[in-house]
Amino acid sequence: MSRAVERRLADADAAARELRTLRDLMRWAVSRFEAAGIAYGHGTGNAFDEAAALLLWALHLPPDPLEPWLDARLAGSERRAATELVERRIATRRPAAYLTGEAWLRGLRFACDERALVPRSLIAEALDEALPQWLELHPRAPSWPASVLDLCTGGASLAILAADRFPDARVVGADLSADALALAESNRAAHGLQQRLELVRGDLFAPVRGRRFDLVLCNPPYVNEASMQALPPEFRAEPRTALAGGADGMDLVRRIVADAPAHLADDGLLLLEIGHEAAHFEAAFPGLEFHYLPVSAGERMLVLLEAAQLAAAARRPAGPARKVGAPSARSVRTRAQGGSRP
Ligand SMILES: C[S@@+](CC[C@H](N)C(=O)[O-])C[C@H]1O[C@@H](n2cnc3c(N)ncnc32)[C@H](O)[C@@H]1O
Repeated sequence: MSRAVERRLADADAAARELRTLRDLMRWAVSRFEAAGIAYGHGTGNAFDEAAALLLWALHLPPDPLEPWLDARLAGSERRAATELVERRIATRRPAAYLTGEAWLRGLRFACDERALVPRSLIAEALDEALPQWLELHPRAPSWPASVLDLCTGGASLAILAADRFPDARVVGADLSADALALAESNRAAHGLQQRLELVRGDLFAPVRGRRFDLVLCNPPYVNEASMQALPPEFRAEPRTALAGGADGMDLVRRIVADAPAHLADDGLLLLEIGHEAAHFEAAFPGLEFHYLPVSAGERMLVLLEAAQLAAAARRPAGPARKVGAPSARSVRTRAQGGSRP
């Protein structure tokens, strides 16, 4: 039997020496990432986007667009810095955002390091798209939301995006991790939100006891234990407490759903990310009525719960699945189809 042909790939020194343009380096970086089999999912989903993010950052260029610079020739020192960063990404298997110290989400820049999850919540997209669409069919007062809680705020990316999207709202970001909140403070200062974004520390709703909110956003730890065991190194570089949700991923979600009624205004909403855990969510809450808000990553990755639905569930003993009566938007699913973190 003849052996498969071996493929060759330039090492970083040869690449820095012999390649010339950003297009050359893009091609080389994609080849290196493909050959190394790194994992994506921290803001990019493939080798090309990962290479673009890292190379543009290394060259002090804005995160997009890439196209105008592709045929620019690079100085030798720039090529060396860029190729070293690509090699570092492969050797360390740390997410690109931890190497560069920044992450971009919906056009905003966030400082980012191992103290908190790399910002990439699907809730960010929903704040701009699926939630406003849902609200068109389920209108609130023009002043809504006057108050927003970002539960499990981490580095506060969602709290800051909420403050940006709802400029009249007062926002609270809550987290158990002092490390994450220290990073959140840097981000709050960088976005000039010291007056409008309050950061509090404690177990879930404990630091906001007695307070109610119009909108609660929550991207909790929800990865089930079997998936945790299979995490690629990039995801293991993140705090385990930001990801692990117990055997079925629902440990914290159960407590959030149980405690949310006491923290929502009458027309309040809880927007909860569950990623690929839709089956576990549905199994954990058989009698609960809720809506799925679709995002580009999937149709059953975000759950929207109205205060009345949560209150009804709190009154009702667990029982068989109930059909949702509330009308749903064309783009909004109620208890339908699937979709995450790793
Ligand atoms: C998935 S991360 C979300 C971070 C951020 N909201 C985002 O979307 O990038 C979950 C966060 O929940 C926090 N957390 C874990 N257990 C908690 C608890 N019992 N009470 C409050 N926060 C908790 C973790 O520290 C982590 O920052």
